Amino acid sequence: MASYLVTGAAGFIGRSIAAALLARGEAVRGIDNFISGRRTNLVGLEAMEFIEGDLVDPLTCAKVCQGVEIIFHEAALASVPRSVSDPVSTNLNCVTATLNLLVAARAAGVRRVIYAGSSSAYGDTPTMPKVETMIPNPISPYAVAKLAGEQYMRVFARVYGLETVVLRYFNVFGPYQDPSSHYSGVLAKFCHRMLAGEPVTIYGDGEQSRDFTYIENVVHVNLLAAAAPVEKVSGQMMNAATQCAITLNKTFEILCELTGYKGKATYEEARAGDIRDSLADLQLAKELLDYEPTVDFREGLRRTVEWHRMSESVSGLERN
Ligand code: UD1
Repeated sequence: MASYLVTGAAGFIGRSIAAALLARGEAVRGIDNFISGRRTNLVGLEAMEFIEGDLVDPLTCAKVCQGVEIIFHEAALASVPRSVSDPVSTNLNCVTATLNLLVAARAAGVRRVIYAGSSSAYGDTPTMPKVETMIPNPISPYAVAKLAGEQYMRVFARVYGLETVVLRYFNVFGPYQDPSSHYSGVLAKFCHRMLAGEPVTIYGDGEQSRDFTYIENVVHVNLLAAAAPVEKVSGQMMNAATQCAITLNKTFEILCELTGYKGKATYEEARAGDIRDSLADLQLAKELLDYEPTVDFREGLRRTVEWHRMSESVSGLERN
């Protein structure tokens, strides 16, 4: 019987949490609808019980929650521009899916749900770093949807006594992140394109900054959230990041070094719904979870470039 459920298990964050649980010998069930998850991300996770399905369907939610003690809810349509062009799909896959999952979790007697929140909830307020007590100010449909999910978590803890923990992720990156979609995260896209010698585009002047967070830190904070005492964490929301802001221009420069890229970036108009700067305060995660990032930005980027280099040479060999 599975004791852990990972939603979005074919996405890069979900598959990384599942892999860490399996490595500890845990029983894991995963679900994904493959809208943005990739079947190739399931390679290496054969010990996981996998269900292809959609959390938008309440019956599927009921099925996947059976026998589960802890849920890592990573499934989402994780893209600001996708939400700008199709807010209804974002709402369905982020808000409706989350509510359905919570209802099913409660009915099945699940003990704890850990939720992938988003730093986009802070919006474009000039105050840095972003502290959890700040009033949310979402500026894209995506940010609204992820924030609504957070609020459902809080309310399910308060009203129904379900243990919930919200981790507000700041720009997660690393191996297995899909580089190929129009909606891919900037680092996956840039690593892939720069290794292939293809052009890259920076939206805006490149001076926007992000607290890019290497995936290993995110897996670590999730495992801490699963193990933390209920009285400390239930109903809480906290940042999960590296606490180091870096501009896109600087990131491009480091990537040029790491990949040997000789081209220049093309600059285009800033994207609608984009925030300018993002940097986390980590005090609360330190207090509640004893969380400290274990891999810094540069080392994370180095590992990510190496992973793209390796996986692209493997797929090159397979094509030959
Ligand atoms: C990202 C996540 C989102 C998460 C949020 C907060 C992705 C796809 N989105 O949003 O799920 O909730 O962080 O942690 O991972 N950019 C370019 N060129 C490109 C692509 C992007 O210049 O080819 C720029 C964007 O305009 C933006 C920055 O890079 O200014 C980051 O964009 P992106 O990686 O899409 O992440 P966020 O929108 O910050």
